[in-house]
Amino acid sequence: MHKDAERILVSKKEITAKVKELGAQITRDYKGEEPLIVGILRGSFVFMSDLVRAIKLDCTVDFLAASSYGKSTTSSGHLKIIKDLDTNIEGKHVIVVEDILDSGITLSRIVDMLKVRKPASIKVCALLNKPDRRQIELDLDYCGFVIPNEFVIGYGLDYDEKYRNLPDICVLKPEVYTK
Ligand code: IMP
Ligand code: MG
Repeated sequence: MHKDAERILVSKKEITAKVKELGAQITRDYKGEEPLIVGILRGSFVFMSDLVRAIKLDCTVDFLAASSYGKSTTSSGHLKIIKDLDTNIEGKHVIVVEDILDSGITLSRIVDMLKVRKPASIKVCALLNKPDRRQIELDLDYCGFVIPNEFVIGYGLDYDEKYRNLPDICVLKPEVYTK
């Protein structure tokens, strides 16, 4: 385990099983369709790469980069679109993939923005859900794990852009972000 990690919250093995399950669920739900999988950068890139390989359908992918955090562990409240989609989503079945649903600000703003572009449907998939910190209500169509209110790193999730490459999801030692 990384020296800045306090403990493993969700192991690599548990993640693998859950991603397979989510992929199978999406495969069933979108039978006969060709969904567009939209990853929110940068946190979703590891989850997304495993998830699309668990979806046994023809699908396309695109990415959107948004930022609200910086070097902090709480949302700043406003969202900046750094990279928009390259795909026209009108008439498409869109699945937005996010690493974690926390305050709900990021995902709800993104979903509102994408709905204006008239997709045939839009659903949301997040690997992690921290319901204790919700400020804006948002229903997840696909959810991996509900977790307690602790700051986690690994499997794509960062603190100050580090730790995204850890294979497990770990709780960050509080002294790392209080120092
Ligand atoms: P929200 O707008 O508060 O829902 O924040 C969602 C974004 O905050 C996610 O995409 C993550 O990038 C980041 N985030 C929230 N909680 C954590 C965490 O525990 N670890 C790492 N990033 C987090
Ligand atoms: Mg993020």
